[in-house]
Formats: sequence, structure tokens, C-alpha cells
Amino acid sequence: MKVLMVCLGNICRSPLAEGILRDKCEKRGLNWQIDSAGTNGLHTGERPYPDSQVVAKLNGIDISKQRSRSLKAEDFDRFDLIVSMANDVSWQIQRISGNKFHADKHKLILNYSFPGSNLDVPDPWGRSISAFHEVYQLLDQACEALIEEHTSVKQP
Ligand code: 4NP
Repeated sequence: MKVLMVCLGNICRSPLAEGILRDKCEKRGLNWQIDSAGTNGLHTGERPYPDSQVVAKLNGIDISKQRSRSLKAEDFDRFDLIVSMANDVSWQIQRISGNKFHADKHKLILNYSFPGSNLDVPDPWGRSISAFHEVYQLLDQACEALIEEHTSVKQP
């Protein structure tokens, strides 16, 4: 399974989602490929935002080696799942991917943990560290549900 986590800047939410999902896959022996990208391209080449790195580290996850990159239309060819952090991100994903957009591959991350809710992971950029802790908890729960959904054997 190849999973791409997407937010606006690829410095706050999606680097955390990438780190959390990779950690869970490693612990379960799942050989998934996980990456993240942003839709606004404003932070290309930057490390994750310091507060995202701190919160990840407090939970035993090192995201310091990640670097921000822009989402490309071709990501819909390369990945099985394109996981959006929020509804405004999803609109940008559709704009960038154009005719490569594939609705079956596109998921809103909190719909894994709160099915059908269409909720956003709140953007913590410019907010206090507690907002990053809240984002971490939401993403941890959603990544757990994502793995469950994509590894469980469906009964006919
Ligand atoms: P992220 O947060 O999408 O979770 O990485 C943001 C970071 C930067 C900006 C917006 C959101 N920005 O506009 O630069």
C-alpha cells in the first residue's frame, strides 16, 4: 500500500500524519510506503514546523528528516491512497490533480475515525503547542482506523 498524506504547507499536519502512520506500520510489520506533500508550495525543502517535531518526539517519533514538497498531479498515479487533512486541502488536491484526480483514491483523514463526518484536522500553524498536541491525538486515532480499514478482511 502506498499512502500520501496531504495538507496545505506540508510542515505541520501531514508530516505528523506521515510519521505516525509509518511508525504504526513498522510496529505491525506492514511494508507500506508512506510520504506527504503540501498543496501551497510555500515551504518546499523546509523541515517540519518545530512544534510538530517536538510533539512527535514526545511520542517517540522522529520526523526531523522529512522535507516539505508540493503535491503533483502524477501523485495520483504513484499512490494508492491520497489522504487529505481537511476540506480546503481536498479542493486544492482536486485543482492540482485535474484530470488525474481519482475519487476512489481520495480520502478525508478524519472520516476513518469519525465515518461520514467530513471533519477537518484543525490547522495548528501559528497556534500554541496545545493545538499541535490536539492534532497529534486526532491523527493517531485516524491512522489506527486507517490501518484497520485497509488490513481487515471484508466479509462478503
Ligand atoms: P499545514 O499548516 O498545512 O498543516 O502544514 C500550514 C502551514 C503553512 C501555511 C498554511 C498551513 N502557509 O500558508 O504557509
